[in-house]
Amino acid sequence: MQDPQIEKLGLTVLVHAELPKAESQEDLEELIRLAQTAGAEIAQSIVCKRDTPDPAYFIGSGKTEEVAATVAACGAGTVIFNSRLSPAQERNLEKALKARVMDRIALILLIFAQRARTYEGKLQVELARLQYEQARLVRGWTHLERQKGGFGLRGGPGETQIELDRRALRERIAAVKEDLQAVEKRRGQNRLKRQKNSVPVVSFAGYTNAGKSTLFNRLTGADVYAADKLFATLDPTLRTVELKGVGTTVFADTVGFIRHLPHDLIAAFKSTLEETAQASLILHIVDGADPRRDDNIKAVNAVLAEVGASEVPTLTVFNKCDLLENTAAGIVRNEEGRPERVYVSAKTSEGLDDLLQAVSECLAKERCDFTVKIDPRDGRLRSMLYAKKAVLSEKYDEDGNNILEVSMLEADASRIDKDSGGALARSCLGKIPWRKSREFDFDSL
Ligand code: GTP
Repeated sequence: MQDPQIEKLGLTVLVHAELPKAESQEDLEELIRLAQTAGAEIAQSIVCKRDTPDPAYFIGSGKTEEVAATVAACGAGTVIFNSRLSPAQERNLEKALKARVMDRIALILLIFAQRARTYEGKLQVELARLQYEQARLVRGWTHLERQKGGFGLRGGPGETQIELDRRALRERIAAVKEDLQAVEKRRGQNRLKRQKNSVPVVSFAGYTNAGKSTLFNRLTGADVYAADKLFATLDPTLRTVELKGVGTTVFADTVGFIRHLPHDLIAAFKSTLEETAQASLILHIVDGADPRRDDNIKAVNAVLAEVGASEVPTLTVFNKCDLLENTAAGIVRNEEGRPERVYVSAKTSEGLDDLLQAVSECLAKERCDFTVKIDPRDGRLRSMLYAKKAVLSEKYDEDGNNILEVSMLEADASRIDKDSGGALARSCLGKIPWRKSREFDFDSL
């Protein structure tokens, strides 16, 4: 496993180089939040403009001297660049600045390492970190000598050490992959079991800090870690909820997304993200009050496409509507009357009933509505229907039979029918909706 003493950043200087066609100024705001999330105390942010990156120092030697003076004046131990640095640039900058230098990717990897909680999450982050280090070693420079204990490696720089590091990394990567495969197999088996039981899964996806966990906690009563930090949630958390007219449904909270998420990280989190691709419905949670809302939506959609989830039906949820003027909580429907997006506030709980209603409606496509007449002596079937939260209304006819209007997933109806020895089909008034045609009901022949 990775270093249990994962570093926290101390006094830090941020450097944001504006390049044509590269990240805009607003990304500096995100870097500040990322650095704070990693525990950095930001001494100063330095912004500079360049037409092209300098191959040796990224920001050029003149600007490097300026940054070095700032670092020395404020006594910062770390300098974070808001770009991807080559190993050579990083090494040169580290010498010139006399401080630890990190690029944006190393920072994101560090946050993931700090936050992973489950065994699988930790393995996934470790794999991403190892692969990142391996890519840098291929280019002939090692970080490992100063990450003492991080990968169980010791020693100084030099060809021999690099060779040793390469071999150690290869072996560790193979071992982590093997452990991950075992965990993934278990996850796949659990997923299959859910599919077999036809339990719908609603997966929460969204840009980091959109409020997924807060919303998840509100809706499920779970105590998932929610904090005003980026990537507070790293491992998927599954909870069951009972939805009216749908029955038992699994809600899954997943990792927060971010633009320019390192590719290794997406690959390492593939099995977690596959949960999203397998979901019956994705709730795309958006921070409605974020000025970069539209860009964030695009970034999330790009990751969803990358993990093969773009075909899954999606309901967009604009959260934090308490911060928006002139926007009331509620469902916005498309021309066909289907829910298109929902405005909610996880903080004040406004719109949460609307959200559950919209989720039920979205899942309802696989649902059937029908009426049953149950003999009062057949209490078992009646309680099975209530246990599925399938009963919309109940009355009595003149003979004292219970007349129930029910609504549930076709697969659930079929299962209850089987478990009740065909009692549900016998009680059904009118056409049996969960079978395409009675003629093909070979079980009843
Ligand atoms: P990651 O774990 O990074 O993916 O974050 P997340 O999307 O799970 O966000 P989280 O639930 O941790 O919330 C982020 C911050 O937004 C916290 O400070 C919440 O208190 C705040 N927040 C969440 N929902 C609302 C809301 O409806 N209104 C307001 N004003 N703040 C909210």
